[in-house]
Amino acid sequence: MNETIRADFPILSQQVYGHPLVYLDNAATTQKPRSVVEAIAQQYYTTNANVHRGVHYLSQQATDLHEAARERVRRFINANKASEIVFTRGTTEAINLLATSGGEAFLNEGDEVIVSEMEHHSNIVPWQLLRQRKGIVIKPCPITDQGALDMEALARLFTPRTRLVSLCHVSNVLGTVNPIRQIAEMVHAHGALLAVDAAQSVPHRRVDVQEMGCDFLSFSGHKAYGPTGIGVLYGREALLEQMPPYQGGGEMIARVSFEKTTYAQLPYKFEAGTPDYVGSHALAVALDYMENLGLETIAAHERTITDYATARLSTIPGLRIYGTTADKEAVIAFNIEGIHPLDLGTLLDRLGIAIRTGHHCAEPLMKRFGTEGMARASFALYTTRAEIDQLVGAIERVRKMF
Ligand code: ALA
Repeated sequence: MNETIRADFPILSQQVYGHPLVYLDNAATTQKPRSVVEAIAQQYYTTNANVHRGVHYLSQQATDLHEAARERVRRFINANKASEIVFTRGTTEAINLLATSGGEAFLNEGDEVIVSEMEHHSNIVPWQLLRQRKGIVIKPCPITDQGALDMEALARLFTPRTRLVSLCHVSNVLGTVNPIRQIAEMVHAHGALLAVDAAQSVPHRRVDVQEMGCDFLSFSGHKAYGPTGIGVLYGREALLEQMPPYQGGGEMIARVSFEKTTYAQLPYKFEAGTPDYVGSHALAVALDYMENLGLETIAAHERTITDYATARLSTIPGLRIYGTTADKEAVIAFNIEGIHPLDLGTLLDRLGIAIRTGHHCAEPLMKRFGTEGMARASFALYTTRAEIDQLVGAIERVRKMF
């Protein structure tokens, strides 16, 4: 990726504490290209009106943009129908919607949900809330020391009570890429459903729900160069049809009376209240940005950066990388013997380098690796080799302080 691309992201050219910013916290959120920021401003300047409600020109224009965005997302993940795309606030809300509404439709006391040890809290806690409400059973699938899903252990976890398997496509800590197609076959052979948290894969590789064979999939706009506050739950139409509404209010109804209310058709049944129609349009612009660069080009660039960073970091004495599977995404979690990750993160910050430290919203995973926290550098389409060199140089400087 060249300087022209970095110029699309004005935030990257600033200084932090007198050093050029090296932004390596892309798994938390990505920076936004000009086209996305400008789309937001332009919509507020020219096309702002509430959607689906107005007979007037502006409302119709805003509605067209919002529904075009839904179609854009459909094409991006290759869903069958735009009505299978539900806009949410992000991955977290998407999984909560699924656990709440899907939990109502598909799960009863004693039914089992399989997750894994590498899940983000957002794919654990919603199921625990459902466990409190309905008495379901949550079964965590172990992972190997390399950070791969233990496929044999997964196969053993299925019972006649298994109804749903909910897994990340890519781990936000280890970068592990789970073999979703293979898992989908296993899940469906047991008559269960498969939900995929694609928050960490959509920004990096082509995600095709039909090819993957999943029943549900969620992702966030802000991790894929789009704005905060918008995300997606994809669900197969036949399943979404069986699920009750998630929240009540405007937009999601067909008719309301005090005696009886009927609900809107898909996907509006799940979209109570004024949707983030500016966010949906800006998300579509972000997806355009990625497609224009080419998802394969982005993936190849990030592969090079990840390999380079892995090689460079591996030369640092006492540095341990967590997540060493062959197929891994653009994230490297690590610890350095004798240096607390929080100290490392704080000192790197003073040198202009932004990484994330802590438990990464994955406390069970920290426990699995016997640590309270890790440092994590995560990459994006604009990350350069020079930035990796700066990271490694800065870590060497910090090491000398200890
Ligand atoms: N889920 C985000 C991360 O991994 C916030 O950093």
